[in-house]
Amino acid sequence: MPQRILSGVQSSGRLHLGNYYGAIREFVRLQEEGEALYFIANLHALTSVRDAALARQLTFETAVAFLALGVDPVKSTLFRQSDIPEITELYWILGSVVPISNLERAHSYRDKLENKGITNPEFGLFAYPVLMAADILLYDSDVVPVGKDQKQHLEFTRDWATKFNAQYVPGYDAQDPRGERSKRPGVFKLPVERIRDETAVVPGRDGQKMSKSYGNTIDLFAPDKEVEKQIKSVKTDSTPPDQPKPVENQPLYQLLKLVLPPEAFAAADQAWRTGGDPKTNGYGYFKNLLLEGYQQQFGPARKRYAELVNDPAEVERLLEAGAQKARGYAAPVIARVRAAVGL
Ligand code: ADP
Ligand code: TRP
Repeated sequence: MPQRILSGVQSSGRLHLGNYYGAIREFVRLQEEGEALYFIANLHALTSVRDAALARQLTFETAVAFLALGVDPVKSTLFRQSDIPEITELYWILGSVVPISNLERAHSYRDKLENKGITNPEFGLFAYPVLMAADILLYDSDVVPVGKDQKQHLEFTRDWATKFNAQYVPGYDAQDPRGERSKRPGVFKLPVERIRDETAVVPGRDGQKMSKSYGNTIDLFAPDKEVEKQIKSVKTDSTPPDQPKPVENQPLYQLLKLVLPPEAFAAADQAWRTGGDPKTNGYGYFKNLLLEGYQQQFGPARKRYAELVNDPAEVERLLEAGAQKARGYAAPVIARVRAAVGL
């Protein structure tokens, strides 16, 4: 059986380099390796986007971004989360085995309360990991490529799937989740995360994790002028142009390493570490290098994006076909779940 690979990205804002190197690049690679399902998490996005027109627009733009960046709707299944009614059904059923204490200690939730100043959080935000677990379990996913920040969500998913299996499958052995010895397989398959270490956290312009909620992004599909402004505002220190520059905690250095092709980076690295000629060794020069690297790396995708944005009917057609395929994968799983709980 080919591995089933699943992941999603929330349509809660414009996509940035962190989303690409932390997630989408991996999606594109993995579609060659197995049965890949990728979706636009527009139900999750409702926890932060409160305007219908904007929610619709961001869902569309995120779909276009996936396609432009190389997610191939023939090789993989690309769909909108909200087109799968089984998702919200499973979300509820799963909720009946989820300990509230898990949700209370969820990093993503606590981070929103502690660092984003949310004082009266809504249920949707609290229950976010349950919907994510439903996303994963509904399609019998084996592998879930995500950024490091999502690791705990995958741990929860396995815990809750195990609890559900133990609750509803008599004779289920947690050491033997597929039931190879016991002949009592779980209702749910246990998925594993795939986190790529070298790009586990892409730094933003200020050196913190790049995130739309920190306002420190370099966007993938913003107009040229805006991208240029973003790249020019990457934080640097006060090392003079002719001096060797530190490589630790330097977002500009880390971004060059990600964006430039290896040979170009090797030359830049050399210049960075040696100092010397102020014209080619100052931070301004390295920012220009980053901008050129960005244009080279993302120019073709930006062009495809501009074309697809003007063809919403085609995008809609692809998404509807994707949803049909995804519901085909979901059907046997939801049937097992319903039978297990007595619906
Ligand atoms: P944001 O933090 O901007 O709200 P999301 O939470 O929507 O981004 O992230 C979507 C996907 O991109 C997730 O898989 C996440 O782990 C990945 N991702 C987002 N930002 C980064 C980053 N700075 N470095 C690595 N991966 C990231
Ligand atoms: N929570 C993920 C994020 O913020 C998005 C997401 C929703 C997801 N459901 C998922 C990722 C299922 C992987 C699998 O990035």
